[in-house]
Amino acid sequence: VKCLNTIETILRRSVGTEPVVAHTEGAQGDDSGEKDGPKSLSELMADRQEQAEKSVLISCPSRTSEKKFLKFLSKHGDINKHFFYESYGVYAVVEFARRDSVASLLESAAIPSVNHECMVPFKSRLLSLSNHSLAAPPAQQPGLPCRPQATVSINELIQRLSREDSVDDQIGALTETYQLTEENSRLRFLVCSLLKDVAAAYFPECTIRPFGSSVNGFGKLGCDLDMFLDLDNISGWNFKPPKSGLSLEYQMKRTNSERHVTQSILSVIGECVDHFGPGCVGVQKILNARCPLVRFAHQPSGFQCDLTANNRVAMKSTELLYLYGELDPRVRSLVFTVRCWARAHGVTSSIPGAWITNFSLTVMVLFFLQKRSPPIIPTLDRLRDLAGPADESVIEGNDCTFATDFSKIQLQSNTDTLEQLLGDFFEFYAMFPFSRMSINIRKGREQNKPEMAPLHIQNPFETSLNVSKNVNTSQLDRFVALCQESAWLLQQSETRTQRGSSGNRTTTPWGLATLLLPSKVVGIKGRKKYKKEGASERIKSLLETLKNKNEEPKS
Ligand code: GTP
Ligand code: MG
Repeated sequence: VKCLNTIETILRRSVGTEPVVAHTEGAQGDDSGEKDGPKSLSELMADRQEQAEKSVLISCPSRTSEKKFLKFLSKHGDINKHFFYESYGVYAVVEFARRDSVASLLESAAIPSVNHECMVPFKSRLLSLSNHSLAAPPAQQPGLPCRPQATVSINELIQRLSREDSVDDQIGALTETYQLTEENSRLRFLVCSLLKDVAAAYFPECTIRPFGSSVNGFGKLGCDLDMFLDLDNISGWNFKPPKSGLSLEYQMKRTNSERHVTQSILSVIGECVDHFGPGCVGVQKILNARCPLVRFAHQPSGFQCDLTANNRVAMKSTELLYLYGELDPRVRSLVFTVRCWARAHGVTSSIPGAWITNFSLTVMVLFFLQKRSPPIIPTLDRLRDLAGPADESVIEGNDCTFATDFSKIQLQSNTDTLEQLLGDFFEFYAMFPFSRMSINIRKGREQNKPEMAPLHIQNPFETSLNVSKNVNTSQLDRFVALCQESAWLLQQSETRTQRGSSGNRTTTPWGLATLLLPSKVVGIKGRKKYKKEGASERIKSLLETLKNKNEEPKS
């Protein structure tokens, strides 16, 4: 209970601005008609999109006076919110109270004229401030107050965690350090909105939405920005012509596959981003992937961006992960911790390859939480049964229906602490029969593997697919060996009673911090093959110790 309270207090919702509201049993059964619990992801996204549409991104000389800057901009209307950050120079995000203020500001901006350089005259809400007319602040005045958009190094994190008093507090501190901030979340939606202005040259009614860890609640500062171009809301799709009389329809290019349409659209928009998109560099079109995409870096925000189209199932997975993360604060904390642990040991990587992805790892955590007794989160089948008519969704023949109204979801009363959960997570996967069984969050039970991939995790919505098809045996073995070692290390730290009374509390890594140190069993650069036999001997002895410890009566 203490752990829940601590976590609940420190957690801030990464998408919304309100503090996280734990979905406790006490909040249920209220039939006042108002929705209980957090907002749905689509409601939160609508709010964020609205803010982004009224915002501009301005590069500022670092010696700008904040007061004068704001006075200068407020000539165009009231400002709701602003903040500064650093990314190849200082930038300001400014949200006006009204959209017409943005239009007025853009009307007052000039197209630059630079000797020996020619401009592509594509106007956007990415601007640069020149301060000829703004007096620089006196030298002793501090520069613009910048909000950090990157997280701390792993070594700094280890030090920070070592200063905490319990593993539960360490997990709370890790979550707080790594989660997206309010400002970073705003910036992500603003970049989508700027990109939408480029795509709107072809599709004026389009939307570009973030998905994946930017919005599912599990994003770490610095994670990539996954976006998808949504053309579903273009008017005319579901237009029913009158039964009699005259009617009109558009003449359009036709092709024989949806995939081909997606590839054509992304190809053209990719070109447009490359040639006209201010701040967009290193554009790569990866159109033959299973999910075609355009990848580029957005320099002013520092985000690595992946733009996809027609990717509605991924949006559903994002909604599902968000829902699970909001149901109980322990879900997000455990996912953050496991993701961080996996990254520290090279179990996951930013480079695509045979390693486990963050998405697969998150599904593994969810599955583990469904298997607790009593379960901490419901199965996907249960969520489907609780769904109302508005939740119904079938995408390309796949049933993607699940309840999104938090007040309909009854949770069981489980009081496991985060420390217990983390230790048991490692033990669970240290012993999991990967060779025979598949992980299935739809059923909340392991199932016989339908195919012989080393790691089989059923895709929650496209149930014939394996989300971890890419993982090879050596990567799975590393994961299992690291789980074994970490389970053992956590057991060790349990015996460290009276920690802190020695006065040496600041620097010696302990508890969760030791799990982030380079492994003694498995080489940190896990891309190289480690000596399997030697390692398995050592793991066996570690396991023996673990077993003996479990058999000892707890003091
Ligand atoms: P990061 O590593 O922080 O970027 O996590 P992420 O959750 O954003 O993962 P990633 O950028 O790889 O993928 C973005 C989203 O696409 C995920 O959140 C999922 O919704 C979806 N996704 C990724 N991989 C798979 C997969 O193998 N199968 C399915 N169905 N969806 C996936
Ligand atoms: Mg991502």
